[in-house]
Amino acid sequence: MNKITVKDIDVNDKRVLMRVDFNVPIKEGKVTDDTRIRAALPTINYLLEHGAKLILMSHLGRPKGVVDEAKRMDPVAAKLSEILGKPVAKANETVGEEAKAKAMALKPGEVLLLENTRFNPGETKNDPEFSKKLAELGEIYVNDAFGTAHRAHASTVGVTQYLPVAAAGFLMGQELSALGSLLAHPEKPFVAILGGAKVSDKIGIIDKLSELCQVILIGGGMAFSFLKAQGMEIGKSLLDPDMDNVKRIMELCKSRNVVLGLPVDVVVAENIEGTGRIDTVSVENMPADLMGVDIGPESVKEFGKYIADAKTLFWNGPMGVFEVEAFAKGTMAVAEAVAEMKGVSVIGGGDSVAAVKKAGLSDKMTHISTGGGASLEFMEGKELPGIAALNDKTAVNA
Ligand code: 3PG
Repeated sequence: MNKITVKDIDVNDKRVLMRVDFNVPIKEGKVTDDTRIRAALPTINYLLEHGAKLILMSHLGRPKGVVDEAKRMDPVAAKLSEILGKPVAKANETVGEEAKAKAMALKPGEVLLLENTRFNPGETKNDPEFSKKLAELGEIYVNDAFGTAHRAHASTVGVTQYLPVAAAGFLMGQELSALGSLLAHPEKPFVAILGGAKVSDKIGIIDKLSELCQVILIGGGMAFSFLKAQGMEIGKSLLDPDMDNVKRIMELCKSRNVVLGLPVDVVVAENIEGTGRIDTVSVENMPADLMGVDIGPESVKEFGKYIADAKTLFWNGPMGVFEVEAFAKGTMAVAEAVAEMKGVSVIGGGDSVAAVKKAGLSDKMTHISTGGGASLEFMEGKELPGIAALNDKTAVNA
């Protein structure tokens, strides 16, 4: 990475304003998955050990520029305090007199968490006035929020204009190196597994992966549009309105000699709650009144052969409605196959991460990205604004 990192700067006795991605699930006032908080710990601990006065900021959910009581950062502050084993001060606003007073009162080694950045309309607009107010709280800016690096917001981009130093944290570096190595020098065969509901969300990444991969396996809701394009009856399964794109992808893979692996059998059901009729059928025999909800055992076997042979693997998106026990088998079996493969396995955020966790196989993967949209955009080859805004190594002698 050609960006300066926290190791390149002197943070002793300085107010370090650090963007983290603490957009974590919360239920009944408690954080239910602290993975993203723990992922930022190496940078947090490094800064505290080096005498920084640490001011953390993050968004939580999508409150659209107004205060939403259910999306306050208090449960996150409580969880971080529990993990760090020390108090974490919390401001009830992102910028303003209270936030400023709390930031100025920090001593080296102390932590303050600001209120949800998206309570302010200026955040998602990357507003210069709001960016300036954020910048007034700190002396140095650090960004460790890989999961939000694809957003050009005030706390990820605008703020960097008003502070002398903008450095990357360790998580940012780790993500860029893991995902970047897939783009730069993937060992062959490189197999991608893509799932999830919509083809339209994955067009960009399929385009890119078809340049890099030898095999692309498609499961989940999006597989049915491809099966339809092959002339199959798909009953009530999801169908992408943009079938031209589906056909274009099929042609592209063919012209690049990429194997486009589709399910050969599927689990079909009356509804996605799993309460009605459920059956497993070959893709040639899908009943008109049922919908596809998972890949079947024969598809698992077929996909498994490619997965076992892979030297590099990227997985994004579940194979079915894995939240429902009856429709989770395909996704769980794919998670197991990926866990057993010998090469480099990278799990690209979102639901596939949840699936790997549900299967209890997280420690068997080479890298699990903390970014959903960010990892997809990075893998598409796009420049992420939150990373572009950081100082290049050569630009600053901090
Ligand atoms: C995520 O959960 O992917 C990130 O925190 C970004 O959230 P956003 O999609 O609401 O910008």
